[in-house]
Amino acid sequence: MAGDEGSRIPGFHALSPAERLDAVGRRSNLGNEGKAHLLEAGAPLTELADHLAENVIGTMSIPLGVATNLIVDGEEVLVPMATEESSVVAAVCNAAKQCRETGGIFASWTGPRMIAQIQLLGVADPHHARVNLLERRDEIAALCDSCDPMLVKLGGGFRDLEVRLLETRVGPMVVLHLIVDTRDAMGANAVNTMAEKLAPHLESWVGGTVKLRILSNLADQRLVRARAVWKTETIGGPEVRDGMIAASAFAEADPYRAATHNKGIMNGISAVVLATGNDTRAIEAGAHAYASRSGRYTALSRWEETADGDLAGTLELPMAVGVVGGATKVHPTAQANLKIMGIAGAERLAKVIAAVGLTQNFAALKALATTGIQAGHMRLHARNLAITVGAEGEEIDRVAAALIDRGEIRQDVAEAVLAEIR
Ligand code: MEV
Repeated sequence: MAGDEGSRIPGFHALSPAERLDAVGRRSNLGNEGKAHLLEAGAPLTELADHLAENVIGTMSIPLGVATNLIVDGEEVLVPMATEESSVVAAVCNAAKQCRETGGIFASWTGPRMIAQIQLLGVADPHHARVNLLERRDEIAALCDSCDPMLVKLGGGFRDLEVRLLETRVGPMVVLHLIVDTRDAMGANAVNTMAEKLAPHLESWVGGTVKLRILSNLADQRLVRARAVWKTETIGGPEVRDGMIAASAFAEADPYRAATHNKGIMNGISAVVLATGNDTRAIEAGAHAYASRSGRYTALSRWEETADGDLAGTLELPMAVGVVGGATKVHPTAQANLKIMGIAGAERLAKVIAAVGLTQNFAALKALATTGIQAGHMRLHARNLAITVGAEGEEIDRVAAALIDRGEIRQDVAEAVLAEIR
């Protein structure tokens, strides 16, 4: 870090974003150009950002693209995707186009049932405690529902109770799960509040000490499922179909491949989750934990041949997203994105997100099973290099095309080509 003041900045949190930026500028190599960029890029949303996070100095923009061609449950939908990765939006557009003739993507969900966990240590008689707690279901339901009368009015609230006994290296634990219908909210605040409210009652009923009270991101009672069929003749023939099925089998059998396979699915999912102001880390954590639910990490999707010889894809994963509360409600871009999709409720949002995940996966597997992904990536990389070396306007395409023709997609070549053109 440049400057001699280091990373300790007393009172930093109490400064305005512009003052914080100055302070960071003085202690780093940010420079005037970097500072001006942050000031300008963040300007419209800095005030809001200052409320959403801490020690804010600006905002960071990432590209927002719109995926076209999607039909989900018979309804056309345009889907905004926020991602810095090239090819991700185009992949969804292509994959969605190829399954329009079979009706697009169909989706279902299990409802917005979120789990909160309460950890009890030092309970003398865990089995007795378990039965005691299960017996108090109605009392627990009433305590939970009293935390959020509005949620109850909207049709949500406490739904169920589970009590698990865990043997751990620090001794036995009683773990209570509250299962709560959070309606159109992601629900973190609702379930965490309930868990905290309930904690002292648990201690008085069964003894022991309550420690953690927090939701679980393994939201396996809040699943979304998507399915679609691609006609073999449309996707390029039986060899393509079989290559994709073999790619799926590879990911099903091998965690090394499954991690990449699922990363591709999350390329689409996280982009919509982010575009709608939802919690990308919650969704990622839930997805990967769900992929490991058998005890062995595997693919979140499955690809098979239908009785008619076509290609069927399915995807299932937890989807704890909401359309009320948090950044979703206060971030104007998230609100605009929900409007683009015509979405007013969490159910439709979860389904559209799953549809994007499935089509993203289709596109990746098709590319990998046929030409590979580098050809497309290198085209975009060539454009990026052209921009990096200073090409402008139509120069960008000319430099990129020359790099591809020469088969040398490198910065020094891009510089030379630009000089030749000019
Ligand atoms: C790259 O971001 C995503 C892929 O690696 C996904 C996959 O391999 O299935 C192409």
